[in-house]
Amino acid sequence: MTDQHGGLEDQNQARRAQIATKYNVYILPENKKVEANQGDTILDASLNAEIPHTHACGGNAKCTTCRITVLENADHLQSPSVKESRVLKKFGLEGQFRLACQARIHGDVKIKREVLDVLDMKLFTPKSRELFKSIQPLGEERKAAILFADIQDYTPFTDHFAPYDIMHLLNRYFYLAGNVIKKYEGRIIDYYGDGFLAAFYLDETKVSMQAVKSAFALFAMVDSLNDYLQNLFHQNISIRVGIHTGDVILGAIGIQGMDKLAVIGDTVNVASRIEQMNKETKTNLLLSETTYHEVAAKVTAGRTFQKRLKGKNGLYQLYEVKAVKDTEG
Ligand code: FES
Repeated sequence: MTDQHGGLEDQNQARRAQIATKYNVYILPENKKVEANQGDTILDASLNAEIPHTHACGGNAKCTTCRITVLENADHLQSPSVKESRVLKKFGLEGQFRLACQARIHGDVKIKREVLDVLDMKLFTPKSRELFKSIQPLGEERKAAILFADIQDYTPFTDHFAPYDIMHLLNRYFYLAGNVIKKYEGRIIDYYGDGFLAAFYLDETKVSMQAVKSAFALFAMVDSLNDYLQNLFHQNISIRVGIHTGDVILGAIGIQGMDKLAVIGDTVNVASRIEQMNKETKTNLLLSETTYHEVAAKVTAGRTFQKRLKGKNGLYQLYEVKAVKDTEG
């Protein structure tokens, strides 16, 4: 009993000693001495000392913006984990840098921050934080459904219009499209001439279906817009849509006062290529395999295609969808 009690006491003492152990971290270029606890990361130490140490992925070993050079006592940092080594290797930084968010301290150490970020930190203004309050200010990885839409045969179509008429038509089209996307909890992220990119990212269990429903609502919107265009210009438009679901980085981008939400990643590139493929397959709506499998039970499928996408390796299975069965939500 006494032994047991003594054992516990020893453990507690060791824990207390560990908690109490403090080390000095010298941080350049600030030339600041910062106190850190045993086991803290360099990033913890920096941020605790209010040094604006860049950490774009939030300390998850998914970027290299927190990178540091260790100037003294590299062996006072825990060796790089598999996760850290993988990232450093991928970007050719192995042996040269450490990731501050992964490097745990167990002795005094001197380091230099490599991404100097006073400006970077200013870029993420309170306004952008407010505007994108569901997104981390420095970007965040999310599952999203990405929808690209463009107007079919737009260039020959514009020959029938004066430039101001085109501006008027596009404004009207984008306004109505924006309302449709918003209705299904998406957001138009970018406009490209006659096309746009929308992202659905709020509820990952629903994003694919929300994007597909939006596509059909966009087609219906264009039908009513065509009544208007017929009256005024004796012309019709039709649109093509491509959708792909996957991981993206969402974040605020742009200079102060002009911040906007940006969406980045291969998912976006694939969605764009799928939308362009409609031209070859003579379809108006194509889904990637991932998106299709998430909505298959609730849609009426059309043709399937196996295609190579520009700039991508291998064959992609693409699905035409004719209608949505489930109109709930
Ligand atoms: S913050 Fe992205 S890897 Fe450290």
